[in-house]
Parts: sequence; structure tokens; C-alpha cells
Amino acid sequence: MLDIINKAAATHELAREEIVRLLRDTDFMPELLAAADRVRKHYKGDEVHLRGLIEFSNRCKQNCLYCGLRRDNQNIERYRLEPDEIIELARKAKDYGYKTVVLQSGEDDYYTVDRMCYIIRKIKELDVAITISAGEKNQAEYRAYKEAGADRYLLRIETTDEQLYHRLDPGMSFANRIRCLQDLKSLGYEVGTGCMVGLPGQTVESLAEDILFFKQIDADMIGIGPFIPNQDTPLGEARGGAFELSLKVMAITRLLLPDINIPATTAMESLHPNGRMIALQSGANVVMPNVTEGEYRRLYALYPGKICINDTPGHCRACITGKIQAIGRKVSGSYGFRHN
Ligand code: SAM
Ligand code: SF4
Ligand code: FES
Repeated sequence: MLDIINKAAATHELAREEIVRLLRDTDFMPELLAAADRVRKHYKGDEVHLRGLIEFSNRCKQNCLYCGLRRDNQNIERYRLEPDEIIELARKAKDYGYKTVVLQSGEDDYYTVDRMCYIIRKIKELDVAITISAGEKNQAEYRAYKEAGADRYLLRIETTDEQLYHRLDPGMSFANRIRCLQDLKSLGYEVGTGCMVGLPGQTVESLAEDILFFKQIDADMIGIGPFIPNQDTPLGEARGGAFELSLKVMAITRLLLPDINIPATTAMESLHPNGRMIALQSGANVVMPNVTEGEYRRLYALYPGKICINDTPGHCRACITGKIQAIGRKVSGSYGFRHN
């Protein structure tokens, strides 16, 4: 197993079967995570990039089986922020010292191209990098956002197992998701994708394919998190809890894509009290603290046990800085693009 880890750390290439062996192995996990940490340090240094996350609407027209925001979930109080409220949160994020704001939502058609471009243009005046994570759009919409000033887009493929994808995302098409990622890339975005780990019916072979897919499309950012079952969804009784497997998928991703940005995801910490710091020491170099205010944090309920739902943006900013310094890392003052 050590030979595979060393090969990955040196060449950043692995065959599918080698990835599968690493994912199945339980004995050499510390060595795998340590190798990912070394590669992270070599390519990205000790700086951690903070991205202020604004969850601007929990309304969604899609019906993904795993997600609490799915349209058939009647057990959730819906909200959406007005454009000027979103811009105000971005201003506060800038005041907290965040160099990037991430605008995330369900697929909510209230935000027409004109509304989105207004929001993006206004936030761009604050001199921050802008990441959007608002789902599938057509090429003209992605182009308009880019021209308005968006820099990056996050759209997880969720799983590269097409059959599983179509089972879990009824009414959506795997081919269209790929089209979105290709459009984003060709428009010059920094493109983020990623997957959930521990989905019902997901195999380690398909997780290996996910990692190879990230490499094949030359993703700039990869978000990996455990699937966490939500009682208000059809997958409420599913197993979940794949913290360690998520860490391994993330670590192998770092070995194979050494210079990309990898967040220590909120879902990691929702399963483990120190999950984000463990992730930062296993290949990750980004954290996305929440800057959503008040009740909306709780209402953006993808899964149960989500961290920080009763905390304020100011508290999260101080908390995360302390944790990052406690593991001997420092908060970056730069925008944190992949190549800079
Ligand atoms: N609607 C946009 C989209 O789907 O790309 C962005 C928001 S969506 C809530 C962000 C991510 O949340 C999804 O890509 C998915 O991976 C993750 N997610 C949803 N439900 C989850 C669950 N039960 N456990 C873990 N992650 C989940
Ligand atoms: Fe909507 Fe995204 Fe949740 Fe799917 S994952 S239901 S698209 S918010
Ligand atoms: Fe929100 Fe620690 S990051 S309380």
C-alpha cells in the first residue's frame, strides 16, 4: 500500500484499481492522510483561504432525494433574500476580511439573469472574488454572470455513477450536468465540482471514477463531503456516516490534483467535532465559514446536525481563525485563485 501512496505523491497519477485499493484499505490511512498533507504543503503552502458563504435562498425547483431543500419537502420554512439584502451580507463579509464571497442557493428562478447580474456587479464593486453555487443554468446565463464579474462556479457532479445519479436526482440529467461544467470551463470560470461520499448504492469503484473524473476535467476546486441522511427526505433511513471514507477520497484527490483548492467541508465537521481541522491536515486548504445571518442559517437545512446554526458571522470568523492558528496554519490575505 505504501508503494501506491508514494507513487501518487510523486507522480500524481494512479490507476483506477490502485485508487480502489487505497479506498478499501484501513491499515494505512494515517500514511495516506499524511502524504496528502505533505503534497498540500508543497504546492499550496500553509495559508488557508476563507470564503464567506451566503446561503441566499432555500427554495428549490429540483427534487434531489438526499437534500432537505428538495421541492417536495413540506417540512421546511422557505425563505429567499432580496438582492439588496444579499449585497449587504457581502459587504459585511468583506468587513470581516473575507476575500471571496460564495453565493449559494437552491435552484430558485426568482433570481432572473438580470437580478443575478445586478447582485454580482454590486458585490464586485467591493473588490472581492465571487463564487456562485446556484445549480444548473444555460450557457447564456453562465456567460452573463461571468461578464457581470463572477469568478468561480461550484457545481458538484455528486456521483459519476450515471445510474445512481439518475436515481437520486429525478428529473435531472447527468449529460446536462456535464454540459454545465464544460460551459463553465470554456467561459473561463474557475470550476469547482465534487461528490458526496456514502450515498446509498455508491461503490468504492464509482468513488475511484469520481476522482479520475476530477482529474480528467481539470477541476480547479473539489468539494467532498459525507452524505448525511435527512429525515425529511426519501433517504432519511439510509446509512450515511462516511467520515473516514470522505477523508480518504479527499486525500487521494489532493495527491492526484496537487495544486487545486480543496475545502474542508461543513459536512465533515457536522459528522465529527473537529472534522474541518482534520480535513485541513489531510489535504484541504480552504474553509467556507457561514456569513448568513439569523434564522436563515437554520432554515438552510440540507441535512441534520449542520454546524454553526446558532452562531453569528462574527463568532464564526473568530472561531475559525483561532482553530486555524491552533494547528499552525495562517489565514490567507489573498484571493486564493488556483494559480496565483
Ligand atoms: N442547488 C445547488 C446545487 O445543487 O448544486 C447548490 C446548493 S446544494 C444544497 C449544495 C450541495 O449540498 C450539493 O451539491 C450536495 O452535494 C450537498 N448536499 C445536499 N444534501 C446533502 C446531504 N443530505 N448530505 C450531504 N451533502 C448534501
Ligand atoms: Fe436543490 Fe441543490 Fe438540494 Fe438538489 S442539492 S434539491 S438542486 S438545493
Ligand atoms: Fe462557526 Fe466555529 S466556525 S462556530
